[in-house]
Amino acid sequence: MEGKGQIALVTGASSGIGRETATRLAENGFEVIAAARRMDRLEELSDQVQGINPRQVDLSQPEDVEAFCKYLSGLDEPVTALINNAGYSLRGALEDVSLEALRRMFEVNFFSLIRVTQACLPGMRRLRKGTIVNLSSIVGKFTFPMSGPYASTKYAVEAITDALRMELRPFGIRVIGIRPGPIVTEFNDVANELTGDLMARTDPDYKPIYQASGAGVGKLFAGLTVPGPELISDLILEAVMSDAPKAVYAAGPFTEEILGERTRLDDDAFDRFLTEKTGLAGLTV
Ligand SMILES: NC(=O)c1ccc[n+]([C@@H]2O[C@H](COP(=O)([O-])OP(=O)(O)OC[C@H]3O[C@@H](n4cnc5c(N)ncnc54)[C@H](OP(=O)(O)O)[C@@H]3O)[C@@H](O)[C@H]2O)c1
Repeated sequence: MEGKGQIALVTGASSGIGRETATRLAENGFEVIAAARRMDRLEELSDQVQGINPRQVDLSQPEDVEAFCKYLSGLDEPVTALINNAGYSLRGALEDVSLEALRRMFEVNFFSLIRVTQACLPGMRRLRKGTIVNLSSIVGKFTFPMSGPYASTKYAVEAITDALRMELRPFGIRVIGIRPGPIVTEFNDVANELTGDLMARTDPDYKPIYQASGAGVGKLFAGLTVPGPELISDLILEAVMSDAPKAVYAAGPFTEEILGERTRLDDDAFDRFLTEKTGLAGLTV
């Protein structure tokens, strides 16, 4: 896909993968609508990079999403590259995550993605072209223990991405899933802040489970070099610019050693493998 004269939309462009992706797309000739809540960050980016157009939206607020979609529907030139990137994580065992917090995470990670995509599709269909890139995760295909709520948002993104790819191919619209492993961005700090002190508030029953899985996952990360967001923004750019993009791109730690096993092993064998890896094998409380 040629960038010049095309409009791209990147959600979550104020930091991390979204910021790098917006930059890469603008450098390749796209006019980029850069959306997020932190307008100061977006304005700073637009001062640094030509072709970045900041737009404030809180994707956890359905009315705000509607107003944003109205703006998208009214654009003279439709969005032809849509990067659904905004997202965040909350950690915790199911009993430690409120339904309200889970609903809010689904609003940002899933429902806003659906609504923004719906708003962009009429323009893409009219032109019979477009590229939609959805940020999933390696945890779109398996979940670590104490991470089910976040992973469930990404499993949902995977399903809609797979269905859309087939539905939209007849219109010449390409749909691509991205599955990053851990990447150094603000993601972890945001997750820590939103999750709070799980050990302080959980039922004592769960403490040994948190401790064992914390140690197990800690071991997985020991000595690991975690890459920066450029690894993923380069992949997204490659997917958008390619004449024949892949259905899914995965990159970063654990893509081979855990995500790979997910495809190689059957459900029972994978359950045993990951229970072992995350320190929970044989644990009884
Ligand atoms: N980093 C990782 O290890 C990793 C791994 C796999 C997948 N991912 C996925 O990659 C995507 C990007 O994450 P990242 O690592 O770049 O994290 P990040 O640095 O924390 O960036 C997240 C972006 O999402 C935006 N966002 C969050 N809540 C929002 C809301 N309510 N309304 C509008 N925008 C909102 C943030 O902007 P504001 O705060 O300014 O609103 C920010 O620009 C996410 O979908 C994440 O799930 C990340």
